[in-house]
Amino acid sequence: MKRLPKIVLALLIQGLALLILAGVVQILSLWVAPPYPFWALAVAQGVLAAFLSCRLGLPCWWRLIQFSLPVGLYLGLHFQINPWWALLIFVVLWMIFFNAIKERVPLYLTNGTTRQALKKLIKRQQQVRFLDLGCGLGGNVVFMSQLVNVERSDGVETAPIPYLIAKLFTLVRGGNVFAMDLWKSQLAYYDVVYAFLSPEPMPKLWQKLVNEMHSDAIFVSNSFAVPEVEPSEIWELDDRRKTKLYLYRMQDFQPKAA
Ligand SMILES: C[S@@+](CC[C@H](N)C(=O)[O-])C[C@H]1O[C@@H](n2cnc3c(N)ncnc32)[C@H](O)[C@@H]1O
Repeated sequence: MKRLPKIVLALLIQGLALLILAGVVQILSLWVAPPYPFWALAVAQGVLAAFLSCRLGLPCWWRLIQFSLPVGLYLGLHFQINPWWALLIFVVLWMIFFNAIKERVPLYLTNGTTRQALKKLIKRQQQVRFLDLGCGLGGNVVFMSQLVNVERSDGVETAPIPYLIAKLFTLVRGGNVFAMDLWKSQLAYYDVVYAFLSPEPMPKLWQKLVNEMHSDAIFVSNSFAVPEVEPSEIWELDDRRKTKLYLYRMQDFQPKAA
């Protein structure tokens, strides 16, 4: 079950919840004569689907989605909300969380403590070239562009709405953002490459990093370590979520000259 795409599993669980609910309604009708209020059936469907979700392999936070789906449908029909609204909300969400399905990387943002740690990391370097892989709203790119020892600060992003916001933000405050898939970026140019992605792309990303980054460069991954690769350093930050920065100094991973 866990191998199925989450969206398929979620729909199967809704189907199973519907079957169970139909059985319960059949039995209930022996004592309480139907019809039953639609709102109660929608809530029961939502509660059942939410209850089953975590147990059948969906991440537990999907319970909220599983509950909201039948209840939202009921509310939409009851109040005769124009279905174009649902489409519009879906399209906007899709344009923000564009990479959540394909890359398994949603949008969440680096905090101020982490940015200060990046500043500390490069404080002894000069003319640093910084790249944020999947730069979201561009906050890191702008922050780094304003440091005196940063020569160039770039970001790449493919989700349309974050890209547009990042583009505007960097036009006004500094740095450069490109509408580019991170897999197509050229890493050889950069001294510090930063990523805050998810566990999913890390093994493939590591191959790209070791193939392309120069030996004095450093890769910083916020929160997600590269599996089976010992980082050069781990910084645990003093913020609320105890952010861990995994630092990979490329010289530690390239074959030493004889
Ligand atoms: C967790 S957010 C981090 C945003 C920003 N780097 C920060 O730390 O505040 C990850 C971002 O990577 C973007 N992303 C994921 N896969 C990508 C890809 N293949 N190419 C470009 N951007 C990507 C997502 O759209 C999302 O905005």
